[in-house]
Amino acid sequence: MADKTIIITGGAGFIGSHVVRRFVNQYPDYQIINLDKLTYAGNLANLKDIENKPNYRFIKADITNSQQMLDIFTQEQPDGIIHLAAESHVDRSISSPLEFVLTNVVGTVNLLNAARATWKDNYDNHRFYHVSTDEVYGALGKEGMFTEQTAYDPHSPYSASKASSDHFVRAYHDTYGLNTVISNCSNNYGSHHFPEKLIPLAIHNIQHQKPVPIYGKGENIRDWLFVEDHARAIDLIYHQAASGSTYNIGGHNEWTNIDLIRLLCKIMDEKLNRTPGSSAQLITFVTDRAGHDLRYAIDADKLEKDLGWKPSLRLEEGLEKTVDWYLSNQDWLNNVTSGDYQKYYEQQYSGR
Ligand code: NAD
Ligand code: TYD
Repeated sequence: MADKTIIITGGAGFIGSHVVRRFVNQYPDYQIINLDKLTYAGNLANLKDIENKPNYRFIKADITNSQQMLDIFTQEQPDGIIHLAAESHVDRSISSPLEFVLTNVVGTVNLLNAARATWKDNYDNHRFYHVSTDEVYGALGKEGMFTEQTAYDPHSPYSASKASSDHFVRAYHDTYGLNTVISNCSNNYGSHHFPEKLIPLAIHNIQHQKPVPIYGKGENIRDWLFVEDHARAIDLIYHQAASGSTYNIGGHNEWTNIDLIRLLCKIMDEKLNRTPGSSAQLITFVTDRAGHDLRYAIDADKLEKDLGWKPSLRLEEGLEKTVDWYLSNQDWLNNVTSGDYQKYYEQQYSGR
């Protein structure tokens, strides 16, 4: 009998696959169930190294289907859930906002309802962990950082949908006493990142000598965290955080987009034995993203003080590891950039 059964939603995606891998390897006595719909962003190849482990199982399911969620909870009787399944790309939320409401808001409420119904006799021993983003806090100017007390002020349909789902999770704690925890993390990077997001898109384009699109003047600032550090924070928070609490997770690694891409070009020139400076010539400034948030920066002091977590890598180190992974996993990259990706790329970037 497994020590604990945990459902991880979105486990075939970028961050979810790192969380699944960590829990499967770290906790051989737990039964880890990866619940994922396998949208364009979900890829079971992300979990090849652990898919045959006895404490791992995959269930293909859609969180927007309330009955299916209730059936799975009834059947599996999980001790906890770590919820990462979401539509996660801001640019897609600008062209299709309703998808984001359905998956991120309705999907989360379906899971909360399934948890409530299944755990009603003992909420305290069952944890609902909702993984969220720093984008719910809105945009910063040149100064300041987001703390757990910062008021929500989302600007994109993506961040509005995540903010809404966070509010529902808190409401289920306050109203019904569900044992919840929320974390809000800054931008992640690392292996298995779908190449619609800035870093893997730029790695792919630089490798293939294609233009690297930078929105606006490249002055927007993001706080970058290596994905394995996020997975480690989620592990600590899942096991140790108080019910109803919130934690910010961030890298203390603020970079303007243009400086980040220049660094990436330099690393790629070295790795691909290209003339220094040649990849930087691919940088192309394109029309800015609508409602583009200027700056995100996370104050993760609470997580450090309460649970002793710190990021393990600086961006310079993590970026080199990331480039190495992409260059030695060409099959993975070719697979995810064939078919629908080409259509998406055309729609998103042509005429920009
Ligand atoms: P991702 O897009 O790579 O993966 C999302 C996963 O969810 C995919 O495997 C997809 O198949 C699955 N999914 C989507 N809709 C589903 C549905 N209806 N039912 C079941 N599964 C579904 O996303 P990611 O970047 O790994 O982000 C994971 C979570 O972390 C999200 O909740 C996101 O908001 C949050 N987050 C991401 C970042 C980041 O930098 N990527 C930062 C902070 C927080
Ligand atoms: P992204 O990876 O989409 O993450 P988020 O929007 O959630 O922060 O984008 C990171 C930053 O890079 C953001 O400021 C938008 C910018 N960006 C570009 O300049 N060009 C691109 O092609 C993409 C996808 C993003």
